[in-house]
Amino acid sequence: MNARRPHILLVDDTPENLDILGALLAGIGQLSVATDGEKALDLAGREPPPDLILLDVMMPGLDGYEVCRRLQANAATSRIPVVFVTTLGSANDEMRGFEVGAVDYIHKPFHPALVRRRVEAQLQLKAARDVLRDQNSVLEGLVSERTAKLREALATIRANSLETIVRLSRAAEFKDDDTGAHVLRMSRYSAVLGAELGLEGDEVDNLLHAAPMHDIGKIGIPDRILLKPGKLDADEWLIMRRHAEMGGEILAGSDSPVIRLGEQIARSHHEKWDGSGYPSGLRGEEIPLAGRIVAVADVFDALTSRRPYKEPFTVERSVSIMREGRGAHFDPRVLDALLDVLDRILEIKENHQEEGESWVRSVAGVDSPAEGS
Ligand SMILES: [Fe+2]
Repeated sequence: MNARRPHILLVDDTPENLDILGALLAGIGQLSVATDGEKALDLAGREPPPDLILLDVMMPGLDGYEVCRRLQANAATSRIPVVFVTTLGSANDEMRGFEVGAVDYIHKPFHPALVRRRVEAQLQLKAARDVLRDQNSVLEGLVSERTAKLREALATIRANSLETIVRLSRAAEFKDDDTGAHVLRMSRYSAVLGAELGLEGDEVDNLLHAAPMHDIGKIGIPDRILLKPGKLDADEWLIMRRHAEMGGEILAGSDSPVIRLGEQIARSHHEKWDGSGYPSGLRGEEIPLAGRIVAVADVFDALTSRRPYKEPFTVERSVSIMREGRGAHFDPRVLDALLDVLDRILEIKENHQEEGESWVRSVAGVDSPAEGS
């Protein structure tokens, strides 16, 4: 039971009726009175609003129906229950009252016990509704607080799992690229190319985080082949090529969209547009777009970087080598995109040379990327 005494507003143009009702209800709640519709609306609109309004139907000026309609139309008063007080007895009149929003009727002449019962019943309902509403708003507050915490936790989990991905990818790259800078650059090139080719924000983001996994299968290639200083013989080359499938197997069966994309990229980044690539000899658009994009990004970075077996080629020479592969090794559209955004690609290259410790944070998206998504 609410400790506060309920507040009842009595509205009637006949003072005797107000006196009778006042005497009947004084023990139930705190009373205020209005002798016309305008005054009733004014009192009902004040804070705190009444818990119940007993409203005469037949009044000069605004009648009870109009007052009730206006109470309903105002958000500040629409929740106050209204009980009509009337001598009218026809079912039609009562229906009209319910239609404008009344919750009950009290008839004149008053039957004291009945009036008190009905008023008490409406006050109890109102109190129960208020409790429910308070609980709901407390619950809503709790839910939104928990939701915010959950969102925060998910963001942390996402950042952590992305860091795990890039650290594992680094493990695969570690032997021939101990800074991880290649993975960092080629994944960013891939994201820029993806955006240039019309991928949506999420797809670009997934590509940025999946591209580092392209060579994760190298973890299964024996060092004598992976680190061999000279040219690979035919058998060694066959084994080396297996890194694409092994990467796919390592990443297979994940529920994570990023890892699924990583699997696709691992399997397809050595396919060639003309069908002469490996492991499946896919051609053209049979090769997933992400694989075609990573192929361009990966080769461009390999050409322009120092490797144990070669000095970096100039940008001009690298571009010219890649142009020769247009429509043979590379999807013409992806290669054209590279040439269109070459300035931004070179900016990334410039900003991401030997990265040292910060590269993992950077690939995991903990640092905000210099280039837009
Ligand atoms: Fe590869």
